[in-house]
Amino acid sequence: MRHLLSTGDLDRDAAVLILDTAAQMAATQSREIKKLPTLRGRTVVNLFFEDSTRTRISFETAAKRLSADVINFSAKGSSVSKGESLKDTALTLQAMGADAVVIRHQASGAPHVLARSGWVDGAVVNAGDGTHQHPTQALLDAYTIRRHLVGGAGASDPAGRDLDGLHVAIVGDVLHSRVARSNVQLLTTLGARVTLVAPPTLVPVGVQQWPCDVSYHLDPVLADGAPDAVMMLRVQRERMGAGTSAGGFFPTPLEYTRNYGLDQRRLDLLPDHAVVMHPGPMNRGLEISADAADSPRAVIVEQVANGVAVRMAVLYLLLAGETHEERTGIA
Ligand code: CP
Repeated sequence: MRHLLSTGDLDRDAAVLILDTAAQMAATQSREIKKLPTLRGRTVVNLFFEDSTRTRISFETAAKRLSADVINFSAKGSSVSKGESLKDTALTLQAMGADAVVIRHQASGAPHVLARSGWVDGAVVNAGDGTHQHPTQALLDAYTIRRHLVGGAGASDPAGRDLDGLHVAIVGDVLHSRVARSNVQLLTTLGARVTLVAPPTLVPVGVQQWPCDVSYHLDPVLADGAPDAVMMLRVQRERMGAGTSAGGFFPTPLEYTRNYGLDQRRLDLLPDHAVVMHPGPMNRGLEISADAADSPRAVIVEQVANGVAVRMAVLYLLLAGETHEERTGIA
């Protein structure tokens, strides 16, 4: 594996390898000394042009647990505010010797540009680009579903079924969600059935070509679809100003919560074993009530913890040794 840009680049074997490696990484994290020497001497640059709490801290923690040196770059407070381009920023960081660049950018496709440009020599990891992809979020979501619904504490299902037969409902602002796009690809690759639930105004054009079902009504999906996991999406109001793709926030927040918000009444429609997920940050009271976010079914905080193991696995597979391409089978 040279880069991790999209879950669309992962076939089932590659995805399972990352999840299995994450399970091994998680096992090391219960030890008294959590740090592994694996990436000693390697440098990981976190290049964040867009705000982040979970992803940035999680990548930093993962790299440090593998003994890599970490450089954190945030566009705010940098020379980007003076007009410096992505190219010149990347060349500057390359001059400091980056073995891997973890990039979050508001422009869809920016990580792909970086990977193909030759501006950096190292591996490029997409930490979220515009409304396009967030592959490590989908991987940590799949890992969390595996831990709860497949068994084996995150390890491979001994029968090799992985997520086969599971039903995952992804609910909310699909239009702006890189998490939804990445998860539809990854979860279906791993065998799950996915249903997207959203108001018609928050469904992307071309969704009929995605490998999933689409519904405009939440209650029937929860009551009759028997989802094993319900993944609530953040309403991305910052991408909904006048003149943006949603043409303003429609439906109104009140209508949205009434028709698509997860609350106690809707939790009670779910099968007993079903888990509630959210990539964060949450709009409590809009797409998810406090009852639902804090319920025993919610695995939202655990998703964050699992993100460290998954990102350790990704950095390890990209950076450790010379034969990672042979090991992963990914060009
Ligand atoms: N889930 C996620 O990407 O959160 P952050 O924006 O805080 O990184």
